[in-house]
Amino acid sequence: MSHRDAAPSEAFGARSPLGSLLDRRLVIVTGKGGTGKTTVAAALAIAASRAGKRVLVAEMGRGEHVPCLLAPVAPAVGYAGREVIAGVTVIRIDPLQALGEYLALQLGVRSPVDRALGNRSFQQLLAAAPGWRELITLGKVWHLGKMTRDDGQPHYDLIVVDAPSTGHGLTLLDVPRVVVSAVRAGPLRRNAERVEQMLVDPEHTLLLPVALAEELPTRETAELVERLRHRVGIAVDRVIVNGVFPRPFPQQVPDLDARLARLPDSTLSANLPRPSTLAACAHHLRARFELNRHYVGELAHLTGLPVVILPYRFEGIEHPESLTVLADALIGAPRAAAA
Ligand SMILES: Nc1ncnc2c1ncn2[C@@H]1O[C@H](COP(=O)(O)OP(=O)(O)OP(=O)(O)O)[C@@H](O)[C@H]1O
Ligand SMILES: [Mg+2]
Repeated sequence: MSHRDAAPSEAFGARSPLGSLLDRRLVIVTGKGGTGKTTVAAALAIAASRAGKRVLVAEMGRGEHVPCLLAPVAPAVGYAGREVIAGVTVIRIDPLQALGEYLALQLGVRSPVDRALGNRSFQQLLAAAPGWRELITLGKVWHLGKMTRDDGQPHYDLIVVDAPSTGHGLTLLDVPRVVVSAVRAGPLRRNAERVEQMLVDPEHTLLLPVALAEELPTRETAELVERLRHRVGIAVDRVIVNGVFPRPFPQQVPDLDARLARLPDSTLSANLPRPSTLAACAHHLRARFELNRHYVGELAHLTGLPVVILPYRFEGIEHPESLTVLADALIGAPRAAAA
């Protein structure tokens, strides 16, 4: 038996045409904690670089996870960013550093900015002020998107943002709209306006929700898609369902778990565990497959969106082929259409 032989798409659905993820300039990956946002951001970067694009992945969390996924020995990328593999640069956007850069650009000098940012009272003020981190971080993304090369072409063809998990991700995307509606004029409003325009331009920006085919992530993803559509106005045209268990048994023996369970434990087979142990493992694979299949359907139904299925990698994400397999599934795999 090889449960890896069965492509997940075989299990879950028909093809439906979708624009390529690589047509956009900015893809913001979000979803509940631990669903695979960082993995998807890294896989998308690989897919884009293989298509000849110059890619920037912007990490927003505390650590630097994408570089470790892309290269076995990855030196820190920091705020300056670093090309980690050919065609893929990774940057970690620290809001305080982005604020310093922005203020220095506005004032034309750096040293008073550094003094202010190092000042305890100013830091306390910043800690209490809502929204600036989100606005300044997205402002940095806007700025990176505007960077050009000597020939006038964009410095990066595609920017992939590894955004915070759902709740924080919503705040991140909602702040520009709130600022635009609350502030009438001035540089704050101008910044918020251009960031908001970037977010709501469907040709430019796509939000990519990542879910697991389980009950809670399904519910939360459906709510996220609903709020994004109605509150933020950002384009969402598909849901990525990660870690989906493939059909567990070959077509010829669809009831393998039941067959194993019927064998007496006295049936000894060299180098194999007892039949009851094998039956329990096989049963687990089937249960997981069926759970995933059910919630893939629910995700398509509740969001009304096509679903892109990424297989569970039994070998682990660190296996040299894993990200490539996920990159292929992201870009070219058949998709389960909303029923
Ligand atoms: N398709 C997959 N198959 C097997 N394991 C996976 C798959 N995708 C992700 N993982 C594993 O799941 C865990 C969570 O993945 P990842 O770090 O990408 O999630 P995340 O959404 O970015 O998490 P966080 O919310 O903490 O940032 C990691 O250990 C990763 O290796
Ligand atoms: Mg992550």
